[in-house]
Amino acid sequence: MEFDLQELKSEWNLDPAYHQVNHGSFGAVPIVVQQVHSQWRERIQRNPVKFFARELKDEVANARAHVARFLGQEGDQIALIRNTTEGASTVMRGFPLESGDEVIVLNQEYGAVTKAVARACDAAGAKLVEINVDYLDTDEQVILKIIAGITKKTRMLVIDHITSATARTFPIYELSKVCKENSIVYVVDASHSPGTIDTDLDRLDADFWFGNLHKWVSAPLGVGVLRVAPRWQEVLRPLIVSWRDDEPYPFPWDMLGTVDPTSWLSAPSAIEFFSKIGWERVRKANHQRMMYGRELVMKELGVSFEQIRVDFLPLGVVPILNMAGGRDGSAAVQAKIAEEYKVEVPISFIADKYYLRISGMLYNTPQDYEALALAVRKTFN
Ligand SMILES: Cc1ncc(COP(=O)(O)O)c(C=O)c1O
Repeated sequence: MEFDLQELKSEWNLDPAYHQVNHGSFGAVPIVVQQVHSQWRERIQRNPVKFFARELKDEVANARAHVARFLGQEGDQIALIRNTTEGASTVMRGFPLESGDEVIVLNQEYGAVTKAVARACDAAGAKLVEINVDYLDTDEQVILKIIAGITKKTRMLVIDHITSATARTFPIYELSKVCKENSIVYVVDASHSPGTIDTDLDRLDADFWFGNLHKWVSAPLGVGVLRVAPRWQEVLRPLIVSWRDDEPYPFPWDMLGTVDPTSWLSAPSAIEFFSKIGWERVRKANHQRMMYGRELVMKELGVSFEQIRVDFLPLGVVPILNMAGGRDGSAAVQAKIAEEYKVEVPISFIADKYYLRISGMLYNTPQDYEALALAVRKTFN
């Protein structure tokens, strides 16, 4: 078995002692992008004052414009942030929720984002309404469950584009329509989307959309994007007040005090790394890897194709049917697989079910997934 673009493994300097099949959690940065990142750091350290006082503004604007183009946007349509956790907190703390409002989240939502919603609801006297959907629910079933949860008080829907624990997509365009028809503010957590699914952000027209480039664009850690619809740009402000706070969106976000901007500045080189290969080819190659690993694990766990959902993604899950122990139990099994079998793979626990999530990235070889299958056999059988 050979994967397309397998020769590109040498573009990364991952520890050869481990099989890394969890690109989805924290990404992994190609060496050439790490070098660009170092060059930015060195440039700053040659004259920090010159850089921060006279160069940073334009350099960040250039990087923001490059990232925006990649997302099909103009430079002033997006703000650079550190990550989607920051995006969720910024939206939830900055949005004028009112007492009695209801905010819908799904039980599949990323925990930290649900916590941000919960804290904002508590502060405003609003109600968090959690709707239960299953990993295997069809898009139509998900839409109907959400519609059934809408009341006159529903003010906001917060939804993942691609879930973390179950790596499934939700029908974000259709839900945008539902929100518009019901005058509901629409928030999309697109942590895994940049690099995996091209989204027409203008057509989607979410009130707030946030995504990460340090996952599937392999940018250095700390490259997030927040898109605020024009109708909210005067209302939603950064969580941190800094010198540029009086300027129009998105400039207040460009410098929130003295922080290291080099991940943002290196993001264009990560985009270029994959653009040179061709994004469609990269996506196919990553999906092929994930499916190869997934089928091996399905055999080990006795899971059939009726028990999984296949999206065209570089990450996908296999349900684990004979597990117990909750969140702590899954963390312990994940650590054991990493330590004993040298395979980094996440085990998630959500809505009382367990899933093993497999990622595919250009650096993965068949041996990574064969090692994973062996670890699964020894751990679960
Ligand atoms: C759906 C989802 N939302 C939010 C996050 C948080 O991302 P970050 O830690 O980069 O803020 C993740 C991370 O995996 C995620 O999968």
